[in-house]
Formats: sequence, structure tokens, C-alpha cells
Amino acid sequence: MWGGRFASGPAAIMEKINTSIDFDWHLYRQDIAASKAHASMLAKQGIIAADDARKIAQGLDTIMSEIGSGKFKFKRALEDIHMNVESRLSELIGPAAGRLHTARSRNDQVATDFRLWIRARIDDINGLLGDYQLALAEKALKHAGTVMPGFTHLQSAQPVTFGHHLLAYVEMAARDRGRFADAQSRLNDMPLGAAALAGTSFPIDRDMTAAALEFDRPMANSLDAVSDRDFVMETLSAAAIASVHLSRFAEEIVIWTSPLVGLIKLSDRFTTGSSIMPQKRNPDAAELVRAKTGRVVGALNAILMVMKGLPLAYQKDMQEDKEGTIDALDALALSIDAMTGMVRDMEPDAERMKAAAGAGYSTATDLADWLVRTLKMPFRDAHHVTGRIVAKAAETDLALHKLPLAEMKKIEPRITQAVFGVLSVDRSVGSRTSYGGTAPKNVRTQAKKWLRTLERERS
Ligand code: ARG
Repeated sequence: MWGGRFASGPAAIMEKINTSIDFDWHLYRQDIAASKAHASMLAKQGIIAADDARKIAQGLDTIMSEIGSGKFKFKRALEDIHMNVESRLSELIGPAAGRLHTARSRNDQVATDFRLWIRARIDDINGLLGDYQLALAEKALKHAGTVMPGFTHLQSAQPVTFGHHLLAYVEMAARDRGRFADAQSRLNDMPLGAAALAGTSFPIDRDMTAAALEFDRPMANSLDAVSDRDFVMETLSAAAIASVHLSRFAEEIVIWTSPLVGLIKLSDRFTTGSSIMPQKRNPDAAELVRAKTGRVVGALNAILMVMKGLPLAYQKDMQEDKEGTIDALDALALSIDAMTGMVRDMEPDAERMKAAAGAGYSTATDLADWLVRTLKMPFRDAHHVTGRIVAKAAETDLALHKLPLAEMKKIEPRITQAVFGVLSVDRSVGSRTSYGGTAPKNVRTQAKKWLRTLERERS
């Protein structure tokens, strides 16, 4: 492509380090769409002949189907997707192909293609997150009243409902989707027409190409257009956070399915056996979701490091933006899918959950609250009295609701039989009716609200 100035070809190792076609072939649809938009704009502006533009468009359509059907031969020597496509175009249509690159450079071309590619990939991920939320909300509605231990410090803290716990992840996924949508709205400005870095002397119409490619507007500064990759950093930030969210749930699945804990079961569909230990049922999918977070966060770190300290405008360093991003977004999409499958598959062991929910004096706060409400004690005093009652119960190894009233009265004489009304786990969760609380009634309302929203979004 630049033979005029060069007497010999590149060293083999130069070709090897310079090539990006092994991963940027992923951008072929976007590259072809952007070239078609550019060619028809050039023709409309009288910069190239209408007949040449027509040949270019037809040739590009042929290339699209060649790549789509696997017939296209990508060549490493041609470096990247842009030159692979252009070179094939000249084989197909001859000299007219050479007019396509008028008033453009690979610098604005690659920035445009990658924005288009990420824009589409965000659409996919957004849809997958919607499916994940739907699976969670359905399961949450089914288990709005299933009591489980709520944890802090991984110690039983207060009883909650399984549905409430699942809905926490629905909320997180909603914010993840918000972050992706936000990144998508900011990346939808078009670099094409910035050319190498300074713009062009040809009378191009950038509004026309922006409209054809469904960008909101052409970017206003040619240097900025070819040299920033903040849209990659921003998308990967959203991906990293989403991935961290998934990894937390994945970790809970690993803990909960351990026979030592046994709060949920995954079927054969989402577990593997061991080649040596016949009793094993391993939560591999959850473990891999947990692990894939490493790639996604790694890709974010990589692009931040690549961009740090880069002077304007285009530097070849920026070619390193694609491989990690493509890999990370694939890993995220796969992880979301796997989590959706596991959510649909998982079944709680309701009895075990309930027993665990009541263990460890988890209704102690309910007792303290009762003292505040009924005896008008300041909460700090109630906390102290409750602590003494828990210590008493622990001494005799009894659950709070099994401790005789007489024992409680020794510590606080004003306690009455009525206190037993708040000490069961069902009463406990049932009483948490504050907005955002875990009461089954609340969970049912929230799950239905999400189901309505998510189903509306699909229709
Ligand atoms: N493959 C290149 C990339 O991804 C395309 C841009 C090349 N531009 C250049 N001036 N060498 O960054």
C-alpha cells in the first residue's frame, strides 16, 4: 500500500509484530459498512465518479458475503482488516478500488470501525443482562418467602429471604446496564473524516456519513477523533464492574453448594464430576465465571496502561486496543449466559436454609427492637440487655425462642410472653417491611415490578 517510498519488504519479525488481522477481522462488518457510507458520500460530493462508487459498493458487498461464508482468505502480510478488504476490492473491481481511500486514513477508519463494533457488542451484552435479570426475578418471585440466613462477615447476621438476595443482583445488573448505556451514548460520535489527523482538503460531508452509520454527530476535533480510546476504557470499566458483580454471586454459588453449607443445589447440567472421587459434584461454571473476571479487569488495566502518556495523535500502540477488548467482552457475555443458566437451574434447600437462618441467634436484633418498642428502652440499652440474654441462651445451648421466659425475666423483669412473637425467623423477615427491606410482601412487590419492566422491554 505504500510501495512508492519503500525499496524492500518488511523483515519477517516486523510483519509478525505489526499484523493485527488475527483479531481485527472481527471488525469486518463495520469496516465494510463504513467504507460503503464513505464511498457514497464521496460520489454525492462529486469527489469520485458515481460509477466508481457503484462498483466499490458492489465489490464490498461481495467481500461481505465472502467473509461471511468463510471463503475469504485473510493475509497477515496485509496487516489488518482495512488493507485486507481494500486489497481484495482491487482484485474484484480494479482501479476504481484505489479511489475509496480518498479523504480518509486508516486512523479515522479504525477509530470509526471500533466504535461501531463496540456499540453493537454493548447491545448484545445489554440483552444478555436483561435475560439474567429476568431469570433472577422469576426465581425471586418463587422464593419471596423462602427464608435464608443473611450474612455479614460471612457470619449469620439476620434472616432474609432468598428472593431478596436474588433481587440484590437484579439491581446490580440494572446499574451495569446503565453504565453500558452511558458508555454507548458517549461513544456514538463519528471519527470518520478526521483523516490521518488534520482533516482533509476534499469537500466531504461528514453529516451524511454520520447519519448513514447512525452516529449522533461527527466528532468536532480531528486530533481527538483519531487519538482517543476513552470509549474502550469506558466500556471495559463497565465490563469490569459487571464482571466483579458476577464473580461475587459465582463465589456465593461455590460456597452455598459446598456440602459443608448445602444451601442450594445445582443439577447435573451445571456441575461436573471428578475422575477419581465418585461423590464429587463440582460447581465449575461458577468457578469459571469467578475466574474470568481476571481477563476482563486485566483488559481494562491493559488499555489504561497502553494509553497512559501517549502523545497525540495516532500511535501504533493503539492497535493493542482490540485483542483484549474483544476477548474481555466475549468472556463477559459467556459469563452472563452461564450465570443465567445457573440461576434457572439452582434450587434452594428450603429446610436447611430455614434452620441455618435461625442458628447463631440471628433474631437477636428483633428482641432488641421489641424491647425498644414495647418497653420504650433506648436502643443502646436494649442492645446490652439482649446481649446478656443471648449469652444466657448460649450458656445452656438453647435457641433464643427456646429460652424460658423466667430466664429472660432474670435479666429484664418487664419482658413478657409476647416477646416470643418476634423471635421466629418467619416473624423476623415478615416484620422487615421498611422500603427496601426483606419482608416477603416487599420481595413479591419488587419481583413483580421487575418482571413487568423486563417483559415490557422484550415486547
Ligand atoms: N491496524 C491499525 C490499528 O488498529 C490501523 C491503523 C493503522 N494506522 C497507521 N497509521 N499505521 O490501529
